Amino acid sequence: MNPPLTKWFNQRIWIIGATRGIGAAVARALVLRNARLCLSGRDLSGLQAWHDTLTPEQKTRTTLTGLDIRDPQTIQKTAHDLSLAWGGIDLILIVAGIYDGICAPDLTLDQMPLIADTLQTNLLGPYHVLAVVLPLLRHQGYGHLAFVSSVAGYNGLPRALAYAPSKAALNNLCEGLYFELRPHGIGVSRICPGFVATDMTSRADYFMPALMQPDQAAHEILAGLERGDFETHFPRRFTTLLKIAQWLPRRLYFYLLARAIARSTP
Ligand SMILES: NC(=O)c1ccc[n+]([C@@H]2O[C@H](COP(=O)([O-])OP(=O)(O)OC[C@H]3O[C@@H](n4cnc5c(N)ncnc54)[C@H](OP(=O)(O)O)[C@@H]3O)[C@@H](O)[C@H]2O)c1
Repeated sequence: MNPPLTKWFNQRIWIIGATRGIGAAVARALVLRNARLCLSGRDLSGLQAWHDTLTPEQKTRTTLTGLDIRDPQTIQKTAHDLSLAWGGIDLILIVAGIYDGICAPDLTLDQMPLIADTLQTNLLGPYHVLAVVLPLLRHQGYGHLAFVSSVAGYNGLPRALAYAPSKAALNNLCEGLYFELRPHGIGVSRICPGFVATDMTSRADYFMPALMQPDQAAHEILAGLERGDFETHFPRRFTTLLKIAQWLPRRLYFYLLARAIARSTP
């Protein structure tokens, strides 16, 4: 559905949320493919520690910026600096996200800051990036936007009362963007991982079916972009079930969800 991204050599790629986890794994894979990278995240010293492990040649292709996706000013400055340095941007991969773990029975006003932070990071953050980069991409007449969303956006879920709605909205946003930007030569991809073993999932006290390693997730993400997929979801043996669940009558979905949770709780 998108023009396949078959060539990574010298592609100018900005990854927002590259310090750890899935974003860092994609960055590692792209360094090996000799792409030109700008890696962003809040923790500049964490990015720097990663950068220190690269060879001198790899370092010349990789720049770092401390950036908070909730702050449009730093996004604007980075995008401006990149346009000047690179003369254009081929791919913007938005990975930044946080998970809340909020349950309905415990919901009080005390949790509003966490809910607001989750929505600001996972949903308003991508809007900030869009508002800054779309004029640039429109002007250059090409480019690709890829959003790391989640299968948590497919159906309502417990213990994710801000996270899952933020990803549902992001999934929806990607569809509108794809439809409207395709005539302008700008590709849009939605990436929906299942469970990946990162800091985000490290504190989970429940069974995570088909848990993947970040490097496998990075492989799936790049393969989806190489195929030109609009949506890449993985691992399929798990995510296909969640896609089917979108079509089930809610009565049946809630019944199956309760059974799955009962089976997976120690
Ligand atoms: N792990 C999973 O099972 C899973 C499943 C489905 C979807 N996802 C999605 O995949 C994405 C990456 O998650 P992960 O598992 O790799 O989590 P992670 O290991 O916790 O990494 C989160 C990444 O997001 C960055 N980030 C967080 N808040 C940010 C902010 N305000 N501004 C800029 N960067 C920010 C972090 O860098 P800094 O701390 O340096 O800012 C870090 O690079 C998220 O969008 C998540 O929702 C994960």
